[in-house]
Amino acid sequence: MDLIAALESLVGDLETGCGRASSLAALEELRVDFLGRKGKLASIMSSLSSLPPAERPAVGQKANSVKERLNALFEARKAELEAQKEAEALARFDPTTPGRAPWQGTLHPTTLVTEEICAVFRHLGFDIASGPEVENDYYNFEALNMPPEHPARDMQDTLYIDERTLMRTHTSPVQVRTMLGRKPPLAVIAPGKVYRRDSDLTHTPMFHQIEGLMVGEGISMAHLRGTLTAFVRAVFGGHTNVRFRPSFFPFTEPSAEVDISCCICGGAGHVNGEPCRVCKTTGWVEILGCGMVDPAVFASAGYPEDVSGFAFGMGVERVAMLKYGIGDLRMFFENDVRFLGQFAG
Ligand code: PHE
Repeated sequence: MDLIAALESLVGDLETGCGRASSLAALEELRVDFLGRKGKLASIMSSLSSLPPAERPAVGQKANSVKERLNALFEARKAELEAQKEAEALARFDPTTPGRAPWQGTLHPTTLVTEEICAVFRHLGFDIASGPEVENDYYNFEALNMPPEHPARDMQDTLYIDERTLMRTHTSPVQVRTMLGRKPPLAVIAPGKVYRRDSDLTHTPMFHQIEGLMVGEGISMAHLRGTLTAFVRAVFGGHTNVRFRPSFFPFTEPSAEVDISCCICGGAGHVNGEPCRVCKTTGWVEILGCGMVDPAVFASAGYPEDVSGFAFGMGVERVAMLKYGIGDLRMFFENDVRFLGQFAG
């Protein structure tokens, strides 16, 4: 067959094919069929070598110009099909569809509860105080009536940095630091992180406490009880009751642990006939430790003997668990946004 004629017929064939190709995929198949390595053009070119050498240049030139035209045909149809595809997509696009709302973060429940508690105490006239998390043995223990070798030091599994330096095990050192810097009368609360070498279902190596301290002339256990009752009712609701149980802390005398009537069963011990899992049917749950500041602590602060005062300390995660009925302490530290997002105000 005449190679020149065969080359020319390729142009017409591709024109027809392009007209029929209605998708980019079909067009690509066509391109491979005509212009690919094993395509129609390539197979004509392979018979070039069988021609007498004198005829080869003319056929070669023809082949080049046919190749250019094939490419041009192909590119033109491709542009057409692409434009068509875009027009179809645009026709489907509905500009009135509402956009996706940006994801909004929320405050952590520990932060929310800390802020709520601080707001209640600010309302009662307390100032906010703070102290370092890396603390001296002196402020964490000694000034709080726990000299070296005092057995009460074992109550708190301490993380030591060196012999005299530790991660504070409670917020009580802020009591001492506050008294060293201020004269009575005063009322402060100190929220912050505390650390203990402890980790299981109900203990985490870091948790949050809020310390309270009120010092002045004639401050008594009655003021302590009144203050804590007001706090508990503001945070847990006006019907919540408070009960003091005698306890021991080296830095308070007398000392007490405070229970509140269970906020899950309302103090009844049962919910819908089932035993209450939060208070274990007792109707009460422990919420904090407190007491009248021990004279030995006033002495470390250089305070006169005629002042008196009370102090208390509570765990923020514990308050949040009771308030929201959260059963697992670990949820506060896992940062699962499905959990955290439920507390947005
Ligand atoms: N610091 C004590 C604790 O962490 C709590 C407490 C504070 C008790 C103030 C009495 C007075 O267990």
